[in-house]
Amino acid sequence: MTIIRGATTIDKDCKEEISASVKALLDEIFAINALKKEEINGFLFSLTTDIHSYHPAKAARECGYDFAPLFAAIEPEIDGSLKLCIRLMLFTELIQNRQVKHVYQKGAKALRKDISEIYNIALDGPAGSGKSTVAKALARDYNILYLDTGAMYRACGLKALRLGVDPKDGVAVEKMLPNLDVKVEYRDGTQHTILDGEDVSTAIRENAVSMAASTISAHPCVRMKMVEMQREIAKSMSCVLDGRDIGSTVLPDAKYKFFITADSKVRATRRYKELVERGERVDFDALHAEIVARDKQDSERAFSPLVQAKDAVLIDTSDMDVEGVLAAIKRVIQSKI
Ligand code: DC
Repeated sequence: MTIIRGATTIDKDCKEEISASVKALLDEIFAINALKKEEINGFLFSLTTDIHSYHPAKAARECGYDFAPLFAAIEPEIDGSLKLCIRLMLFTELIQNRQVKHVYQKGAKALRKDISEIYNIALDGPAGSGKSTVAKALARDYNILYLDTGAMYRACGLKALRLGVDPKDGVAVEKMLPNLDVKVEYRDGTQHTILDGEDVSTAIRENAVSMAASTISAHPCVRMKMVEMQREIAKSMSCVLDGRDIGSTVLPDAKYKFFITADSKVRATRRYKELVERGERVDFDALHAEIVARDKQDSERAFSPLVQAKDAVLIDTSDMDVEGVLAAIKRVIQSKI
């Protein structure tokens, strides 16, 4: 007896999605393993607790996989595990010496990074467009890493502020670089930004750091150092990266690219709420002016500016909620898998 493994994810808990995904999974398993009906002993599906609308075993039977016993069971509910996921164990009498090929489709590719391709999702856009919220949700749902590249530039800006170095002063910034030690670490799936050995994840979120980060990030010497780290991380594992130049410069070959934007007033309102919730006192008009100035500075810098990559999908989130943006992005991703 030989076991072939497979898994896939669905975008939405509905009968059509379940039927189509189960069929696609079985079709690929049968095709790449050149399986014959007579060789199959049984199908055992499992599904995550967030799937309720249809039975994968029924879906399999309906699309012609009715020649061996079929069974499906619910998996235990585990924090942080992949959402809307259907797994399969296929029992077969494989002819000896035939090598088994397991199949992981869609978001389930993340379950077996060893046999699935590494892929990157680039999310670029201006401040407050909702990139980071969406990036975190995508990383959670696809079980891949989230790399917040803005946090790295924020750490550079914070270092300059602490040393009294003017972030505009290219010569002073370049002198500071050999002693600039920025690292990202992950604890419980959350990115921690480490500056010279200190966890500055909270400090870099202060509003004063935003403009310093934008200004310092315009220097090519700073960008080169940060981009190298970003590429190293993205090369080694599947991840979602958010920033300004991911799709255009950092990872021009990223499989999925999005440019997330929104009206500047909407973006300022989002940042305002975020800062007030964190206990910072800010004036809305000043914050809006600052966001507009930061957009201008990020878009007009000579080296690697904020720009929509030619092949990035544009999403304007002005009138969308997080769920809507997430669904739109996932639709594009699924259509390209
Ligand atoms: O995404 P954020 O607001 O945390 O980013 C802070 C600043 O860092 C932003 O104004 C411009 C800069 N940045 C950049 O130049 N390139 C990136 N990939 C990410 C951020």
